[in-house]
Amino acid sequence: MFCKMILRGIWTFDLLLLICFKGVTSLRDVRLLVDPPVVIRGGTAALICERDMQGSPLYSVKWYRGNHEFYRYTPNELPNTRVFGLPGIYVDMNNSNGKQVMLRRLELGLAGNFSCEVTAEAPPFSTQIATRIINIVAPPTKDQILKANKDRYQPGEALRANCTSAPSRPAVNLTIYINDEPHRSSETALHPSEVGLYWSSVKVELNVTPELFVGGRLRLSCVAAIFNVYRSTATLDFFTPETDPRPERITFSGAPRNIPSWVFLMLLFLLPMLVMGQLYDEAEFKMDEIIEYGYEPDSTEHVYKALVGG
Ligand SMILES: *[C@@H]1O[C@H](CO)[C@@H](O)[C@H](O)[C@H]1NC(C)=O
Ligand SMILES: *[C@@H]1O[C@H](CO)[C@@H](O)[C@H](O)[C@H]1NC(C)=O
Ligand SMILES: *[C@@H]1O[C@H](CO)[C@@H](O)[C@H](O)[C@H]1NC(C)=O
Ligand SMILES: *[C@@H]1O[C@H](CO)[C@@H](O)[C@H](O)[C@H]1NC(C)=O
Repeated sequence: MFCKMILRGIWTFDLLLLICFKGVTSLRDVRLLVDPPVVIRGGTAALICERDMQGSPLYSVKWYRGNHEFYRYTPNELPNTRVFGLPGIYVDMNNSNGKQVMLRRLELGLAGNFSCEVTAEAPPFSTQIATRIINIVAPPTKDQILKANKDRYQPGEALRANCTSAPSRPAVNLTIYINDEPHRSSETALHPSEVGLYWSSVKVELNVTPELFVGGRLRLSCVAAIFNVYRSTATLDFFTPETDPRPERITFSGAPRNIPSWVFLMLLFLLPMLVMGQLYDEAEFKMDEIIEYGYEPDSTEHVYKALVGG
């Protein structure tokens, strides 16, 4: 019928032959689809074998893992489905047919090349095969751990933190966020674990500035993700002393924030000098040497100034 229609409008006999030959006989567009597209360890997947028979009768469809056939559909035989035992392959017969094979309890070792091969009866046993790699994802069994070197930070201090994931396949992507902004300069490292699994770690180091405390809070988070099948967030919040509900412990470096630190350094430095100056006075330290430098010998203050050099 198709050919008759063509015939009416056809210009050359060659073209007619070509179109009719292709139209009736050629099996084409064999494709292997996986549903769901990302297969989870221990889960289920359907391997769908799509094809365009173009009117030709189907002779058989075969499914392979590598070079090993594990399932076959032959409409002209009884029974028309057959399973060939292959370690680790569990075919769900209730959901398998000439269109798809359903696999259950997929383990990591099964990842690899899968194929489906379609054979048409005409022209005698034309065959097409489609192959694709099936990866099996093993999400981490535990959440990632985010740790910082301190509980609280003052502006000017360095915040050092790291985030460590549990083993997975593939390795999780770890992203550090500072106040919900991705932190660029964090470096991720991969570490091999049990067979085929990897754990990831990322380190972050930043100088704490007052601007980082948005509304009194600095939020550090670590997001672990595998494609769009696994996602987990770990968060640490740091508060400025003003908004922190916990009582503030007064420490040397913590309390007097407005006095520059060099003043304390000077004090620290001068304190022993003061004491020393007094000792020297008691020991009737010879002031002549100091007079040479142009200082009055009768003032202790001047003495330690000279000793310090300012
Ligand atoms: C297939 O279906 C039968 C009948 O409904 C059921 O007894 C059997 O457990 C099913 N097998 C699987 C593998 O689901
Ligand atoms: C899958 O097949 C391709 C090409 O045939 C081959 O290069 C590759 O090594 C195979 N991969 C696995 C995991 O067997
Ligand atoms: C991660 O950070 C914590 C706290 O700063 C530190 O004790 C630990 O050694 C760090 N681990 C790694 C692997 O860097
Ligand atoms: C990790 O992130 C990169 C870049 O966004 C992406 O191409 C890759 O697929 C991700 N890997 C996983 C396991 O999520």
